[in-house]
Amino acid sequence: MRTHQIAAIPGDGIGKEVVAAGLRVLDASARRDGNFQAAITEFPWGSDFYKQHAHLMPDDGIEHLKRFDAIYFGAVGAPDVPDHLTLWGLRLAICQPFDQYANVRPTRILPGIESPLRGVTAKDLDWVIVRENSEGEYAGQGGRSHRGLPEEIATEVSIFTRVGVTRIMRFAFELAQSRPRKLLTVVTKSNAQRHGMVLWDEIAKDVAAEFPDVTWDKMLVDAMTVRMTLHPASLDTIVATNLHADILSDLAAALAGSIGIAPTANLNPERRYPSMFEPIHGSAFDITGKGIANPVGTFWSAVMMLEHLGETAAAARLMRAIERVTADPSLHTPDLRGSATTDMVTEAVCAAILGDNE
Ligand code: NAI
Ligand code: MG
Repeated sequence: MRTHQIAAIPGDGIGKEVVAAGLRVLDASARRDGNFQAAITEFPWGSDFYKQHAHLMPDDGIEHLKRFDAIYFGAVGAPDVPDHLTLWGLRLAICQPFDQYANVRPTRILPGIESPLRGVTAKDLDWVIVRENSEGEYAGQGGRSHRGLPEEIATEVSIFTRVGVTRIMRFAFELAQSRPRKLLTVVTKSNAQRHGMVLWDEIAKDVAAEFPDVTWDKMLVDAMTVRMTLHPASLDTIVATNLHADILSDLAAALAGSIGIAPTANLNPERRYPSMFEPIHGSAFDITGKGIANPVGTFWSAVMMLEHLGETAAAARLMRAIERVTADPSLHTPDLRGSATTDMVTEAVCAAILGDNE
């Protein structure tokens, strides 16, 4: 029996609801599989912890997490704590020291779910967005001086390094190469940003030479939003900077039906540190505590986690169970214009896993 040590960090708001649901689904996956167990350790870090301890996780939090095989994360953010404190105090405080530089965000239209784009079906929209997750616009460089004075200055400096850009380009080209269409779109803004983004473009071109079987093109980020909306079938694998991919992946999630469905993996591809798996959505104050959060993004993130842990059969089984459930509109939560609850969807996915005989 294989044992995978998993740290669960539900965090705030609906993060707590969807991670609780995700752990039930993981448990069902392990029981149905019979060859592995998921040993879960939960950490109560987030905004409630901050209100008691003045930090979002303990100073040695990263040390605690090092021994785990993977981290399963919900969301962080509360109405009464500034967002830059919560994001930097927990999520980025894990991503950066664990060098989870490759953020992978698959998007496709699952069975039973309708895209808001007229006539667009599953065959037209099947993308993976690769987000540079360690530097760029979210490197954390910058500062403020002369606070409160009329001459106050704030800088937010984007960082692009040859090492950082090269490794994410290689990751993206390899991923594109592993998919049937072998097609990569490199998103840029090198017309307006003439230093970092020009380096980004140059490295893309150099790395492309290592992958002659991958067809690639380049898009300015503003035009990319138009292409995603009007010509979704022209895209397959996409690589973009930290900020650009952050924005484009929320758009991608909406075009595929709901932000509640979209998963993500924050990978340290070399496996020197644990990788982290989470839905892309936040803590959703407007629906917290109502029991109606869509747990599918968190379940799909568990699929990515199981794949990362080498449990490919269990990952495939969980994905089949998710798709069986999304195919039934009576099991859609309100974000999909249904009336199902988080609990109903979770029960149905667990039942589909346990009843899967493929
Ligand atoms: P959000 O993703 O929390 O919510 C945006 C909208 O989508 C809301 O109307 C919400 O109800 C809906 N939504 C999100 N997830 C859903 C789900 N699973 N099921 C059904 N509906 C869902 O983004 P927002 O409102 O910008 O941010 C709220 C808080 O979350 C902020 O504090 C923000 O900083 C934080 N946040 C944290 C993230 C993380 O921890 N990774 C990511 C994004 C935001
Ligand atoms: Mg985001």
